[in-house]
Order: sequence, then structure tokens, then C-alpha cells
Amino acid sequence: MKTILITGGAGFIGSHVVRLFVTKYPDYKIVNLDALTYAGNLENLKDLADKSNYIFEKADILNAERLAEIFQKHQPSGVIHLAAESHVDRSISNPIAFVETNVLGTVNLLNAVRNLWGDDLEGKRFYHVSTDEVYGSLGEEGLFTESTPYDPRSPYSASKAASDHFVRAYFHTYHLPVVLSNCSNNYGPHHFPEKLIPLIINNIKKNKSLPVYGDGKYTRDWLWVKDHASAIDTIFHKGRSGETYNIGGNNEWKNIDLVKKLCDIMDELLERPAGSSRQLITFVKDRPGHDRRYAIDSSKLQQELGWEPSMKSEEGFRETAKWYLENEAWLDHVLSGEYQAYYEQQYK
Ligand code: NAD
Ligand code: DAU
Repeated sequence: MKTILITGGAGFIGSHVVRLFVTKYPDYKIVNLDALTYAGNLENLKDLADKSNYIFEKADILNAERLAEIFQKHQPSGVIHLAAESHVDRSISNPIAFVETNVLGTVNLLNAVRNLWGDDLEGKRFYHVSTDEVYGSLGEEGLFTESTPYDPRSPYSASKAASDHFVRAYFHTYHLPVVLSNCSNNYGPHHFPEKLIPLIINNIKKNKSLPVYGDGKYTRDWLWVKDHASAIDTIFHKGRSGETYNIGGNNEWKNIDLVKKLCDIMDELLERPAGSSRQLITFVKDRPGHDRRYAIDSSKLQQELGWEPSMKSEEGFRETAKWYLENEAWLDHVLSGEYQAYYEQQYK
């Protein structure tokens, strides 16, 4: 039985990747390694609890000894690395946590696989999941390609860029069989409500103001999270060693237009008068160093490996809104505790 270790599997994207691998590959053993920080939640995976090919290991990627123990125990031949501090606003108030988890944690993992695999690299793969934010910010025109020079501009993107560089350095220096992907903004079920889409949906539900940073004309390319998981599956199995693949939804929205679209969907779902949620929109202080626009050219992945996004945005946003309305217990749980203090501080 092939063993794949997935880090950050209790988080938003990781939980979709774990579910896809556990259900699609019953002959793989999937080990989910996660520290269960504020962003990690085993409720995201409760439907997998009875699966015989799924194992959870609570561990911090900063703890090299614990990593060595887990790698010895499970002997994975593949690693898909998603564990990270992922929220830009938090990186602005606490950059050190991002350096620790995203940079040091990634190097710890690289060392753990090197120690386990040694020179026996046949059939081995280390997959590093990264972000389009490493490429910096675009003007009105243009797309990020795999050869766009790195220009990270927030502590989060700087830490992800550093981790990407370490992964490539291990490929060149030690011939570690790595593959990387850089993806645009994801959305869908289980998204932690500190991020724009679930925060807006939750605030509309509660009739709270909808904070839009700056002039609201910042632009993101939104990808359905299950399409990201399917891209990861494709790249993990078919991607070429040492290569990087950009993943995007070809689905650009200015924040203000996206927020208005969510208002209209929620008015319909909640049977409120059309236009009522839009009145909650409030322009607030901008994010420091806010990147203006991200947009991805994913033609390499589409042409070389045959992947393409499946979800239409209108349908995806509606499904997401419905999911949050139908999963109140999940939302109440993640909104309790630490999140309240974070929200007060961020939006005071
Ligand atoms: P998330 O914040 O929802 O989840 C992160 C997970 O990592 C959590 O389960 C958390 O408990 C775990 N984790 C954090 N620190 C850890 C540590 N020290 N040791 C072990 N586990 C730890 O993040 P996400 O949005 O699912 O993002 C997953 C990955 O995808 C990240 O690497 C992120 O940079 C990348 N990414 C995210 C997006 C996006 O739109 N969310 C887009 C492109 C790339
Ligand atoms: O591009 C990929 C990245 O997308 C990932 O690497 C990150 O992990 C992920 O968090 C996301 O980063 P963003 O900063 O783009 O996502 P966020 O949801 O925080 O913000 C999306 C846009 O909405 C951004 O322009 C900031 C704006 N925004 C965000 C919040 C939380 C607001 O206007 N108001 C808000 O309250």
C-alpha cells in the first residue's frame, strides 16, 4: 500500500485534498499531519473518521523530532505539503509566526523526507503547495506565468516565497524529487471566516456591516476549492519533477463586485428584499501594502497535464453561501474562542 502524508489536512484546502485522496484512492494510506491551530478543524473531516485508509497525526511541523518519528512510523513515499499560516492580515500583525511555520516548518519537512528517503528516490515525490501572491501585484493588464519573477510584498507572501525557494534548492542541491504549484484565491465549504467570502456571508447572515478594504477595486481570481484539489491530484500524479504549475480559476472579480454578488445571492436565499444586504457594505481602512490585482495564466497545467477548472462562479458562490447557511454548527464552533478576539482587533 502506497502511503501519502498530507500536511495541513485539517485546514480549508487540505481537508478537500485529504477527502479526494482517501475516497479516490482506497489503495493508498493517507496520513493527515496537522497541528490543529486555530485554522485546523477535524470537523472538516468527520465523514472520513471510519475510513480504514485514513490516519490522523497531531504534530507541529516545527517539531523536527516528532516529524522524524512520524516519518519512521508511516514511511510515506509521497508528501503533499499544505500546512501553513495562510492569512495575510495576520501576517501583518505577527510576521514571526509566518517565518516559523512557513519557512522553518517547510525546511524541517524537507529534512525529514531526505532523512527517510536517503538516496532511494525512485517513486518518491515532495509536493509543495504555494500561492500566486509570491509573484507580487499586477496592474490592469497581464497574468502571472510560471516565469514571472518573484516579488512578494506581504510577510505572508514573503514567507511562502522563501519556502518555494527552499523546495527548489533541495531539488537542485540534493536531487529531491519535488513539484510545486502556485494557486489563486480559493473559495468553497470549510473556508475559515477570517477570509473575504465566508466573512461576508457570515456578516450578511448576522446583519453586520460588510468591511471592504480601501476603494474595493482590488481584484482576485477565485477558484472553487474542489478544483484546486483536483489540480493537486493531477500534478501529484502527472507533474514533472522540479517543475512549477500555476493554478487559477480564470475568474477575476473586483472585491466590491464580488461582495455585491454575495449580497444578492444571500438576499435570495434568506428571502430578504432585493438590495437589502448591499446596505451593509462599509468601506474601511485599507490593508497595508495591499496587492492590487492577482490573475493567473494556468495554460501550462491545462495543456501539459489536461486539468481545467469545472465550476462556474455564479453556481460556486451560491453553493458556498448555501453550505454556510446549512452548516451553522460548524460556523458557530469556529467562530467561538480565539476568533472573537481576532475580529475585534482587526475591525475595531
Ligand atoms: P488554512 O489556514 O485553512 O489551513 C492551514 C492548516 O495548516 C490548518 O489545518 C493548520 O492547523 C495547519 N497548520 C498551521 N501551522 C501548522 C504547523 N506549524 N504544523 C502543522 N500544521 C499546521 O490554509 P488553507 O487556506 O487551506 O491553505 C493551505 C495551503 O494552500 C497553504 O500553504 C496556503 O499558503 C496555500 N494556498 C492557499 C490559498 C487560499 O486561497 N486559501 C491559495 C493558494 C495557496
Ligand atoms: O491569492 C492566493 C491567496 O489568497 C492565498 O495564498 C491566501 O492564503 C489567501 O488567504 C488569499 O489571500 P487574500 O489576501 O487575497 O485573501 P482574503 O480573503 O484575505 O482577501 C481577499 C481580498 O478581499 C483582498 O483584496 C483583501 C479584501 N478584503 C479582505 C477581508 C478579510 C476586504 O476587502 N475585507 C476584508 O474584511
